[in-house]
Amino acid sequence: MKAAIYPGSFDPVTYGHLDIIRRASEIFDELTVSVLNNKTKTPLFSVEERVKMLEEATRDLPNVTIDSFSGLLIDYAARKDIHVAIRGLRAITDFEYELQIAQTNRKFSDGKLDTVFLTTSLEYAYLSSSTVKEIASFNGDISECVPDFVGRLLYEKYKETGAGNEQ
Ligand code: PNS
Repeated sequence: MKAAIYPGSFDPVTYGHLDIIRRASEIFDELTVSVLNNKTKTPLFSVEERVKMLEEATRDLPNVTIDSFSGLLIDYAARKDIHVAIRGLRAITDFEYELQIAQTNRKFSDGKLDTVFLTTSLEYAYLSSSTVKEIASFNGDISECVPDFVGRLLYEKYKETGAGNEQ
């Protein structure tokens, strides 16, 4: 049985991520989408909120499990006995960064963790969680970027914090 991990920040999950998740779930028997709990970053959504959003957005994909992790991806993957990481590539600018991480992971896992890249569908190639957050913070239309329930949570979050609405 072939299993893979799709790690990421998913702050929040976008249609670009969901496109990668769906396609990876068709290639692998089991896919674990795992939210990085990064203590050095201040995300908009907590790990619990991000996990919940991913669970809701992938409800129709029976072989997809949502999880979270802290620390190194290679250690997490070893604990789960999974040897493939999935990453999405939008453009050549992603490639340099992703190549370095993939090579680091392969080297420091003694070849036990390899990375499989899926190219993002062209309709989502422009998308990133950061730009979606910025648009939402100014009450812009994000209906083509994230599922409706994620959009509602984003607007609520910015209403709570008041961030981004200053002129
Ligand atoms: O969605 P992102 O923020 O681009 O995801 C980055 C992620 C989570 C894949 C990467 O930062 C990661 O795996 N972090 C865990 C720490 C780690 O293993 N770092 C080693 C590579 S230098």
